[in-house]
Amino acid sequence: PPSPVDSVLDLAPVVPVLVVPDASAAVPLARALAGAGLRAVEVTLRTPAALEAIRAIADQVPEAVVGAGTVIAPEQVAAAVAAGARFLVGPGWTQGLLAATRGCPVPFLPGVSTASEVVALLERGVREMKFFPAQAAGGTAYLRSLAGPLPQARFLPTGGIGPANAAEYLSLPNVACVGGSWMAPADAVAAGDWARIEALARAAAGIRGPASA
Ligand code: 3PG
Repeated sequence: PPSPVDSVLDLAPVVPVLVVPDASAAVPLARALAGAGLRAVEVTLRTPAALEAIRAIADQVPEAVVGAGTVIAPEQVAAAVAAGARFLVGPGWTQGLLAATRGCPVPFLPGVSTASEVVALLERGVREMKFFPAQAAGGTAYLRSLAGPLPQARFLPTGGIGPANAAEYLSLPNVACVGGSWMAPADAVAAGDWARIEALARAAAGIRGPASA
């Protein structure tokens, strides 16, 4: 079996957020992304095909690390892990979700958008979080402001991020990687245009924060 994922945030600087309409798209999509250097892929639990897509990627694309996104209910945790998800991400968090993920063999990144939520999660021993919806919740200015009082927290910002602003996020001390859907546009997925997706992913894989450029 694949080794457990220690930190989601250290897998790749950009994590594609995928909406998979049909499980048959999952394997070529994950191959295109991982082949371009984006090995962590988040399949959102927003379509009926999502769990089957996770299972297909876990079984057939060893170069990818597949996770489940949009985890919003405790019962989704076991289902996603059983399908092969190696990490879990949610747009938010509740006590029930944290309880469901506590004994879980894979890491869960809860979503936050306020300082109080960061404090609440640090109090519960969680240091890695998704910052969502990143642009709407205050963007890089907000994250920079959190780094002063709450330097222990590390973030995966997602929501409104693209080629134009990803590098700015990645330059922040408390941002390890960014997420977004721009590498897998719905029309390209529907058309099976894996070459276009691979080109978008290759460009995304080359994005670095100015400090590490
Ligand atoms: C989402 O939940 O859809 C993700 O945060 C992706 O957001 P984006 O489409 O703005 O990249």
